[in-house]
Amino acid sequence: MLIHSREELRENIRKWRNTQAKIGLVPTMGALHEGHLSLVRQSLEECDKTVVSIFVNPIQFGPGEDFSRYPRTLDADVALLEKMVGEERDRLIVFSPDAETMYSPGFCTHVVVGGPALPLEGEKRPGHFQGVATVVLKLMLMTQADMAYFGQKDFQQAAVILRMVEDLDVPVCVKVCPIIREEDGLAMSSRNRYLSPEGRKQATVLYESLSLAEQLLRAGERHAPTLERNILEILHKKYEKEQVNYIERVDYVNFVDPKTLESVTEIGSSVVILLAVYVDGTRLIDNFFIDNL
Ligand code: PAF
Repeated sequence: MLIHSREELRENIRKWRNTQAKIGLVPTMGALHEGHLSLVRQSLEECDKTVVSIFVNPIQFGPGEDFSRYPRTLDADVALLEKMVGEERDRLIVFSPDAETMYSPGFCTHVVVGGPALPLEGEKRPGHFQGVATVVLKLMLMTQADMAYFGQKDFQQAAVILRMVEDLDVPVCVKVCPIIREEDGLAMSSRNRYLSPEGRKQATVLYESLSLAEQLLRAGERHAPTLERNILEILHKKYEKEQVNYIERVDYVNFVDPKTLESVTEIGSSVVILLAVYVDGTRLIDNFFIDNL
């Protein structure tokens, strides 16, 4: 069922709550792909009812970012979700509010997370996590969710949400689900559709560089700056003379502690390698979480 207004959402949530239903929330910005669908699948497995929110959240985009051109494909998204639930339509609500519904006139309350929200994306995209935390907390409250599902693809985002939920005693169990990749390793993302065919081909270098770092790490190299240099070498690999290089700029490559997201130099038993790279005019992020070292 597609719902746009908060009153209608509230009414449905009230009915669900009266039957003691366990509610799962899958927050998205739409342009759904298999990564999102894996979250919805998990919510349907673990909860009686699921709300998938589809909202391109203006307050998490900075000036000059892709808010206006972000893909908006509501009809196709709803069709995908309806196909997924089939006969069990009453187990799913698609909540697609407009910006005025989420941010009524005079809106001026925000959630500011410190710690894991500060480095990396926090530095490169000031205000981004404030926008994310604010909308996610609002969605958790509006849906009265018991569970909420996020993809590991946005590792730092998940760490920020976990921190927020812990710090503010939000009664929601947050699940972080594995990255879903294309066959050639590219992490699925709504932004992949911006890539030209050649840019798309070269974008696999993110996965290649992370895979090499993991190999070296498992073979015994524990010095993060050395591994970072190896990753950068692959990202900046030379293309044939006549070939255009679509890897335009590396925003960051970093080895961090999985919980605090603080940089590490000597790697212990677990680490996350995070990277952000401009490919063909599009900023892509990816990560490997590596443990049992
Ligand atoms: O990951 C996203 O798509 C967004 O950041 C989220 C969590 C839906 C908040 O707008």
